[in-house]
Parts: sequence; C-alpha cells; structure tokens
Amino acid sequence: MTTDTTGTVARDGESRPGGPADSPFIRACRRRPGPHTPVWFMRQAGRSLPEYREIRATVPMLESCRRPDLVTEITLQPVRRHGVDAAILFSDIVVPVAAAGVDLDIVPGTGPVVAEPIRTAADVERIRLITREDVSYVDEAVRQLVAELGDTPLIGFAGAPFTLASYLVEGGPSRTHAKTKALMYGNPELWHALCGRLAEVTLAFLRVQIDAGVSAVQLFDSWAGALSEADYRRFVLPHSTAVLSGLVDAGVPRIHFGVGTAELLGAMGEAGADVVGVDWRTPLDVATGRIGPDKAVQGNLDPTVLLAPWPVVEAEVRRILEQGKAAPGHVFNLGHGVLPETDPEVLTRVVALVHEVSSRRADQG
Ligand code: CP3
Repeated sequence: MTTDTTGTVARDGESRPGGPADSPFIRACRRRPGPHTPVWFMRQAGRSLPEYREIRATVPMLESCRRPDLVTEITLQPVRRHGVDAAILFSDIVVPVAAAGVDLDIVPGTGPVVAEPIRTAADVERIRLITREDVSYVDEAVRQLVAELGDTPLIGFAGAPFTLASYLVEGGPSRTHAKTKALMYGNPELWHALCGRLAEVTLAFLRVQIDAGVSAVQLFDSWAGALSEADYRRFVLPHSTAVLSGLVDAGVPRIHFGVGTAELLGAMGEAGADVVGVDWRTPLDVATGRIGPDKAVQGNLDPTVLLAPWPVVEAEVRRILEQGKAAPGHVFNLGHGVLPETDPEVLTRVVALVHEVSSRRADQG
C-alpha cells in the first residue's frame, strides 16, 4: 500500500515542477487530468484515530483548535497514517464565531452549544467582524502546516452562513432546525442581517487561511439539506454566494458541501464553487447531470459502509470511481464525515484501493 502511494508521488514528481498546485487533488478540483483520483476524508483529522484521542484526552476541543502545535500535529496524523492526497486543517466550524465574540463551547458527544442563542438585531450586532489577530493561532498553524506538508495540499474550511446560523439560533445541534426556520420565515429581515454578518465573518476567516497558504477551501453547509430549493435560493444562496464569490480572486479551488442536498446540487454549484460535494444518496453520475459539466464533484462513499466487511467496501469504492468518471473531475471522499467507530486500517486500505483502481499510467491510456 505504502509502496503504491510513494511510487505515485515519485512518478508524478518527475514530470512536474512539484508543489501543491500540481498535486492530484488540485488537478482534479480544476478538472485537469492527474496520475490518479485523489482521496481525502471529511473529519479525517481526529475521531477514529487513537493517536488523536490520546492528544485530546487532556485538552478540550476548542483549546486544541487554538494551539498551533496541536493543530499541526492532529492535521498531519491522517496524512502520515493513510497517505491521503490532502490534509484538512484541524479546527471546527464554530471557531470563527467564537473569535467574533459569541459565547460557546463544543461539548463532547453533543457538538457546539451556544450560551445565549441569537434572537434579536442587538444579538446580531454583537457578532464582531474578525481580524487576523482574532485568529492568529489559525494563521500560525496554517503556516507551520504548509511548511511541513511539502507537496501535499492543505484544505482550509469554514461553515456556511445557514449551518452556522442554525447553531447560533438553536443554541446547539437540532434535528428539525425549527427555531432557525421560524426566524427565517417570521423575520426575514433579521435572518438576512444574521446571515450577512456570518458571511462577512466567514469570508474574513477563509481569507486568513488563504493568505497563510492553504491550497483550497471547503465551505461546509452541512444542514442546508433541511431546506426546499426555493427557500434555499431565497434565504441562503445569496449569503453563500457572497462567501464563495468573494474568493474568486484568491486563486484557490472552492469546494461546497452539504448533506441531503440532492435537490440543491445545482443551486449550490451556482454559489460559486469549483467542486460540489455530494452525499451518498445521489450517485455521482446523476449528481453531475444536476451540477453541470463545468464543475468537479467530491464524494461519496456512505461512511457506514466502512463498518461493513471489506468486499462490500471494495465493491462500493469501485462503483463510486466508475460513476465519478461522468464528472469532469472527481475527488474521492465520503458522503459525510468519518464515524468515530471506524477502523483506521479500513481508511488506509480505501486510500490504496482508490489510487490503484484509478491509476492512469501510460499502459492504461
Ligand atoms: O474534517 C476534519 O478532519 C477537520 C476537522 C473538523 C472538525 N469539525 C473537528 C471536530 C471539521 C472540518 C469540522 C467541521 C464541522 N464541525 C462541521 C461540518 C462538517 C460536518 O460534519 O457536517 C460541523 C457541522 C461541525 C460542528 C460539530 N463539531 C459537531 C456536530 C461535532 C460533533 C460532536 C461529537 O462529539 O460528535 C463537533 C465536534 C468536533 N469537531 C469533533 C472534531 C474532531 C469531535 C470533538 C471531540 O473529539 O471531542
């Protein structure tokens, strides 16, 4: 497995100037051919790795996101272990809103919990615009990581306005997003003010990461699938567009991802993405039909399949690679994040399999 990964990198290294911009991952994002289909996993930094749990045993989540030495180590762990084609910055979608002055914590087993949920215009006003100094630990961690990673690209990320708004309005994770939608339908003006402010914070946060050297960014709108397409277009799309289009001149590929978004794939692409993330519910060839021929796709192995016997995993990986050929670029990933109970050995095997099956050596045309 290791031989295959190393071999691919070496082979590729001979024919290109090197650096993350020419990596298989960035090539696929830009719909350019590469030596193999690149693979990384959402939530690869943490959760299933014993070496991650060891670090986190004594350090609370938010503190670990604010210590550049720990961010660097945790981000590198899955790259070392699995040989994935990209690293993702270890952080959380609530880090920038905490930096903007919102009192919150990440509670183990629950997720983000906000002390005083957003209800009024005055609450929105209290969300400050952030500067580089507010998130200097992210700036520092990205610079350290870029130096350590060499040719392996680092993905920066942020939560999209709707998903952030959901945590801030609900006060924590929610199945129905009822309070969020009540605000959206009942007070559109306040809703747009909140999402407008969150878009500004998010854009500033992504700019800090890009200036520090990330090679791509992913905007997570994890819970956007709770909305109809009409409501998504009216209440969410303008704000996600403000973030993604605000980065046009930054020169790094932009990935846009949500869960349960089969009906929203076209609209999410319109927000200004180069790559649209697809969950496991929509086959990649069908997704490509909805997104259009000018964008790459990312996905979409069901994370629970990794708990099945290997022959099942292998068949699913092969199916997804086949369906991904319908898109002008394919980044292999899960349809959502790695589950904590996943055996890390299986993730390593999936990386090797994706590389092997998709290898485009001269003898294979
Ligand atoms: O992808 C990565 O490996 C990078 C790190 C990362 C984390 N969170 C670390 C984390 C990323 C990209 C995120 C994004 C994130 N955070 C999203 C969008 C992605 C998605 O899954 O849809 C969302 C919705 C959150 C909010 C959040 N933070 C949730 C729902 C949870 C889970 C709570 C739990 O304990 O299950 C968190 C906490 C969190 N963020 C953990 C990690 C590694 C677990 C913290 C722990 O180990 O205690």
